Amino acid sequence: MNNSWESLREAAHGVAKRAYAPYSRFYVGASVELKSGEIVSACNVENVSYGLSVCAERNLVGRLRADGTIAQVQRLAIYTEASPPSAPCGMCRQVLSEFYGDLEILLFNDKGEERRTNINALLPMSFSVEELKTGQQES
Ligand code: THU
Repeated sequence: MNNSWESLREAAHGVAKRAYAPYSRFYVGASVELKSGEIVSACNVENVSYGLSVCAERNLVGRLRADGTIAQVQRLAIYTEASPPSAPCGMCRQVLSEFYGDLEILLFNDKGEERRTNINALLPMSFSVEELKTGQQES
């Protein structure tokens, strides 16, 4: 594990403390390292209308797209307190797969446990723009 992962871990762990999760008390931090070395982070933000809660990963994608850095991402680290470390939910997997395939992902917790994966492994046979193109009808 190199320094880049270490910095990313610190960022993801740190941003999880900013999570707004008064309902689930499940604090998630997601951080990416850009090609420039810059780290961008986000946390989950819940709502009293529970279904409106947004996961850390999707908040992060929104930030990256708005910053214009979505294509500059090198690696992603996701912090949760779960044991084993939690993987992204299905909705976040689909959103991440819009932009990334073999993106390396580190899932970790504060108990020293970690798992390494990538988007393709998390979401095999994903629905993609290819399906959309081949299924389009003439109008
Ligand atoms: N959550 C995430 O932030 N990312 C995931 O991939 C799974 C779930 C959040 C949503 C909610 O605020 C809390 O964790 C419990 O589901």
